[in-house]
Amino acid sequence: MDEEQSGRMVSGKRQEEDSTVEMSLRPRRLAEYIGQSKVKEGLSIGIQAAQARQEPLDHVLLYGPPGLGKTTLASIIAVEMGVNLRITSGPAIERQGDLVSILTNLKAGDVLFIDEIHRLNRTVEEVLYPAMEDFAVDIVLGKGPSARSMRLNLPRFTLVGATTRLALLTSPLRDRFGSVHRLDFYDQESMERIVGRSAEIFGIDIDDDGIREISARSRGTPRVANRVFKRVRDYAEVRANGSITGEVARQALDQLEVDGLGLDEVDRRILRAIIDMFDGGPVGVDTLAAATSEETDTIMDVYEPYLIQLGFLQRTPRGRVATRRGYEHLGMTVPAARSSSDIQPSFFDDPGKSEST
Ligand code: ADE
Repeated sequence: MDEEQSGRMVSGKRQEEDSTVEMSLRPRRLAEYIGQSKVKEGLSIGIQAAQARQEPLDHVLLYGPPGLGKTTLASIIAVEMGVNLRITSGPAIERQGDLVSILTNLKAGDVLFIDEIHRLNRTVEEVLYPAMEDFAVDIVLGKGPSARSMRLNLPRFTLVGATTRLALLTSPLRDRFGSVHRLDFYDQESMERIVGRSAEIFGIDIDDDGIREISARSRGTPRVANRVFKRVRDYAEVRANGSITGEVARQALDQLEVDGLGLDEVDRRILRAIIDMFDGGPVGVDTLAAATSEETDTIMDVYEPYLIQLGFLQRTPRGRVATRRGYEHLGMTVPAARSSSDIQPSFFDDPGKSEST
């Protein structure tokens, strides 16, 4: 069963119900945007400098796990620059002509946001190179020996690319971005401010303990927090008096099987599979996907980053390995027979170069 069908709580992936409500929760200006201070600072400097020079902002690449605010930042960039935003995604652009048509319809200074830019196909990607570098596209007229190539000039625009997998971007594409920013999971304090802000926008009665509980159990991801928040609100309305206290939030999250660190049933299933079925690993991600009936991409984009962040799982060149802390979180005993090198990071353990990227 895929995650859309299963209605998973903790996935950072976008879901249908998010669209309208989520939009109203999104900060519109950089000053309202909570957390990611390094990214904000970098963007703010770039935006101010571009405005002072009356030029469009250089192309921006945002990467990191889903749900951390890449689309929100693209929209903030457009608002701050006072230009239009055009949103599309790698898989939506199937042919070169689709991209040429989008590009030639842009106005000077516009922001073009391409989500999941690592999923652009190669021939389409080749259109982007001259577009990004020279603000031009080369189109071929006619066929065979009489075919001629014609260069079309484009207005100067800003491309904002977003990806969950920096490693899958080709270097010619990556090199054409003027700035590259990594979004990290939010810390507890930022999460609390985000949940508090959402409560205010929704006009919901929640105490500090309730805010703390929802924030702690939303895996450092605002999109997850906002989704969890709505489910806790339902619970509060049906099982309590509508107010969200720490106790109500705890009961609601327990009922949703989200544990104290924000792990849900699938996270635990993945960790348990590594431990029970593959003796703690290393196990290849495709094997792990088959063993847990999850998709490889979903494991890599959604589950692993947070399990790695918690120090429960490691990517090694030979596969995924459960760490001592992972065993302990599940209440399992770390086998004495395991050599420490199996569960310690090695010099070669570069996540970008693991057995499957
Ligand atoms: N809502 C979702 N993400 C947010 C953020 N980073 N800042 C403020 N509100 C948000």
